[in-house]
Amino acid sequence: LTAESAGIALVKAANYIAAEVLRDGTAIRVRAIRPDDKQRLVRHFGSLSAQAVYFRFFGLKHALTPDDLHRLTELDFADHVALAATIGEGNDERFVGVGRYLRGEDRARAEVAFTVLDQYQGRGIGTILLHHLGRIAAEGGVTEFVANVMANNKQMLEVFANSGFPAHESYEDGIVRVRLDIAGAQV
Ligand SMILES: CC(C)(COP(=O)(O)OP(=O)(O)OC[C@H]1O[C@@H](n2cnc3c(N)ncnc32)[C@H](O)[C@@H]1OP(=O)(O)O)[C@@H](O)C(=O)NCCC(=O)NCCS
Repeated sequence: LTAESAGIALVKAANYIAAEVLRDGTAIRVRAIRPDDKQRLVRHFGSLSAQAVYFRFFGLKHALTPDDLHRLTELDFADHVALAATIGEGNDERFVGVGRYLRGEDRARAEVAFTVLDQYQGRGIGTILLHHLGRIAAEGGVTEFVANVMANNKQMLEVFANSGFPAHESYEDGIVRVRLDIAGAQV
């Protein structure tokens, strides 16, 4: 990858946008999260169920601080990439799901995490976000996604297991560490 083509790839990821239709016919948009999404992210976080917050943040987060909001919306699209699944247009656009990855010190590996609103779960949004993130990540040179999932979080484990990406799981202290080989499969 030349510096120039890497630059183009980042610009592309920062402007990422795709249209998707769920199996039930609902149209959603999958797009890069932008700095002006702070209020949409606040609303999304506030609409998550206690269970979803627990699974996503391991019970450690009760509100988004201004620092969190900055970190979660002002993205470099190199080490930190986030996509929102949205419905509605203009001022009515709202997040129904968010997926993001953060590259580690080993930049070939990135940690992924997702939140989908309860009433939108089980409709394919988690899977769709994973595939779009996987595409951006593979193009950016990431070869493996990792996720730490609570052992009783069946839905997240199912999404990874059925993703089409070769998966490996290890288990420690109630947490399943999932590794997905995102360079190894065409999905
Ligand atoms: C885990 C989570 C992200 C999964 O997202 P999701 O949108 O519900 O996931 P999907 O809909 O893609 O997949 C879940 C189920 O829907 C099914 N499904 C997949 N595509 C579908 C589609 N197009 N239409 C209908 N159903 C579909 C899947 O088969 C799966 O069913 P299963 O659980 O019986 O195997 C979501 O449940 C969530 O936000 N949970 C709380 C937070 C959390 O746990 N985050 C993970 C922290 S790492």
